[in-house]
Amino acid sequence: MQLPGGMPVATFLRDYWQKKPLVIRGAFPGFECPVSPDELAGLACEEAVESRLVIELEDGKPWQLHNGPFSPQRFERLPASPWTLLVQGLDHWVPDVADLLEQFRFIPNWRLDDIMASFAPPGGSVGPHYDQYDVFLLQAQGRRRWQFGGNHDTSSPRVEGTPLRILKDPSWDEDVILEPGDMLYLPPAIGHHGVALDDCITLSIGFRAPTQDDLLTSYTDYLSSQPGADRHLNDPDLQPQTNPGEITPAAIERLQRLITEAMNDPRQLGLWFGQYATSPKSEDIVQPPEEPITPADLYDQLNSGGQLRWNEGSRFAWHGLGLDELALFVDGERYLLSGDARPLATLLCEGNQVANEPLLSLLADTTLCELVTHLHNQGSVYIEWD
Ligand code: SIN
Ligand code: CO
Repeated sequence: MQLPGGMPVATFLRDYWQKKPLVIRGAFPGFECPVSPDELAGLACEEAVESRLVIELEDGKPWQLHNGPFSPQRFERLPASPWTLLVQGLDHWVPDVADLLEQFRFIPNWRLDDIMASFAPPGGSVGPHYDQYDVFLLQAQGRRRWQFGGNHDTSSPRVEGTPLRILKDPSWDEDVILEPGDMLYLPPAIGHHGVALDDCITLSIGFRAPTQDDLLTSYTDYLSSQPGADRHLNDPDLQPQTNPGEITPAAIERLQRLITEAMNDPRQLGLWFGQYATSPKSEDIVQPPEEPITPADLYDQLNSGGQLRWNEGSRFAWHGLGLDELALFVDGERYLLSGDARPLATLLCEGNQVANEPLLSLLADTTLCELVTHLHNQGSVYIEWD
């Protein structure tokens, strides 16, 4: 397995992932940006699309932020000061952009977040900053100068008077100009500043990693809805104590036992995490099709040249549960599969275009055909025709 540009995945994971930046020249030779600046502006006018405008200097204030949706007229009165338009979740809106994600499957599906696009005229940037997450910055149109380096955290000096976290006087280790098709990988916390040299589109393939806080909140919520969670603490071994006000170390031990018994079940953790990690980014991502289909229709369509595809923005993962069982997770729901049914999960999770031949042979099983039909009718997959 290789990265775009040819580096072996094992080398990248060993030497760069979460460790240090990497410039990949010619990662996508001859790359042509699937969206134009006008299309990005059009998307930024849509209610359902998350978009932002960053203006370097506005009414004397540095790095001002405006959230979309914008009116089309907004783009006719942009300031002379450099600016950048950001469109989040572009993969959800543009299937050709979703296809790009297939080049990043060397990182597990559940770590992927989305693809954000930025458009800036010459001089535009979002300011020097660092991010909490790994990102591949693919130069899609025009050139951008990237300066990057240094490890940052919340104590790093910041520019005042802006809602954005802009680094004050950062120093850089590297200074490069990226051309279309070049790509820069940055691990979390590395400072960076990318300034457009031409009319410039950059696609950020962004990853995510939950915080301990997110995990604890969500997992304990899940556990508390599981059978047995209404069990009370018991203390048949209660000992006499001199002061009734004391919460004894023995009481704390009993608490700890009750809590860790619930927390220490890897099966539950796996089942919960798959649902958590595949929950859609926003509610409107998974929309049922206008016409639901029957299992027989689904089979016929796939048998006569239809291609099963993930809904753009839908999330797929699976987790093995012992020797004979696994759980398939799609958009926050889980489906347990055992024995000969298991290959359906691995096949569906491999990539956004599901291989037709092995799929059809699995769909000969009525239960599996019903499962895929259900995924279709809830909007997690659809059938594409050439
Ligand atoms: C940009 O595309 O201009 C900014 C992306 C980033 O710095 O994370
Ligand atoms: Co950034």
